[in-house]
Amino acid sequence: MKNLNIGMIGYGFMGKAHTNAYCQAPRFFQNEYRPVLKALCARNQEKAQGFADNWGYESVETDWRELLKRDDIDAVDICVPNNLHKEIAIEAAKAGKMILCEKPLAMNVAEGEEMCAAVEKAGVANMVWYNYRRVPAVTLAKQLIDEGRLGRIFHYRAFFLQDWTINADVPQGGAATWRLDAEAAGSGVTGDLLAHCIDTAMWLNGGIKDVSAVTETFVKQRKHAETGEAAPVKIDDACSFLCHFENGSLGLFESTRYARGHKALNTLEINGEHASIAWDLHDLHRLEYFDHRDDSIVRGWRSIHVSDGDQPYMDHWWVPGLQIGYEHSFTHQVADFLKSLETGEAAHPNFRDALQTQKVCDAVLSSAGERAWKSV
Ligand SMILES: NC(=O)c1ccc[n+]([C@@H]2O[C@H](COP(=O)([O-])OP(=O)(O)OC[C@H]3O[C@@H](n4cnc5c(N)ncnc54)[C@H](O)[C@@H]3O)[C@@H](O)[C@H]2O)c1
Repeated sequence: MKNLNIGMIGYGFMGKAHTNAYCQAPRFFQNEYRPVLKALCARNQEKAQGFADNWGYESVETDWRELLKRDDIDAVDICVPNNLHKEIAIEAAKAGKMILCEKPLAMNVAEGEEMCAAVEKAGVANMVWYNYRRVPAVTLAKQLIDEGRLGRIFHYRAFFLQDWTINADVPQGGAATWRLDAEAAGSGVTGDLLAHCIDTAMWLNGGIKDVSAVTETFVKQRKHAETGEAAPVKIDDACSFLCHFENGSLGLFESTRYARGHKALNTLEINGEHASIAWDLHDLHRLEYFDHRDDSIVRGWRSIHVSDGDQPYMDHWWVPGLQIGYEHSFTHQVADFLKSLETGEAAHPNFRDALQTQKVCDAVLSSAGERAWKSV
């Protein structure tokens, strides 16, 4: 067994989700490589040490540049706000480290291009955490589509709805609310939420040709958590867009943080000539499937409980009928990354794949700004 020494940057939501995945992946999936929690990097020494002690990191760094200088780090995991992805990734590539970077890849396409050039020049393994591909029900959807069960695809529909920024007193910027600050996040729901829907959509249904979008910022000013000053809000609070896919199907996407009652309603539905499928993050272990070729007296939507050993990833978990959850999508991504090191075949989505999602996001934002269709 070979060790893969991980240098984790950031210990927030994703730092925790990924660390858990590094711990679980080698226990449930057999790979030649085993992740070792070598170093945790965050600015506050005391908090970083607390996280490191809890999860079993061997050491702590407070400056990511120092982490990159270390010879005992093989792979760097970027779990910090979006405005830091580019600089860390480019320096990590120069230092010859493998890179696992959180989504969205970058603040915009120009940054993403630089990041792709850097990892490709350095020849380092790279991957972006669009983890919803690895929810077994979504992976099963991919299998059914690739088998041709849906026939020609007509429609792709996806929503990602939340409600946590309706209160105008929620600040922008700072540790907990950097997502509302365009300087840290790049964009609002487009890069944060729709990017997930777009990655999954292009994986399932192929490339997106052009888009027509509308965005809105409902709360125009918010106090900045660090300065205490009220400042204009420059992120999109809500975004809806239409698109054409390269396969001729039509897409409809919507995301908002103003859908009262919805915490993380991430859904997709695909309508094909013979069959339709639907999935919903709140019931993530189920795939809804309708097949028009069924005998008409029993035809109807079936709800497939994705927990059997012949369904994607499930032979590594419990006995049939027992489902798994959100965190397992990250474990599957780690397992697939480790496998890619073993086989030498690139893990996906890599930086280049994620750049394509970034191109769609940028086209969406520019379409909304100019009130015009934009090609990707
Ligand atoms: N794949 C997913 O489903 C998913 C979900 C949530 C977030 N994300 C992405 O993950 C990234 C992080 O988001 P999060 O929700 O974990 O944020 P978070 O606010 O919970 O954590 C961010 C972490 O970055 C650290 N940090 C900030 N600046 C730093 C610096 N200069 N050096 C070292 N550490 C620094 C903070 O201390 C904190 O630990 C973002 O790019 C976000 O878009 C992806």
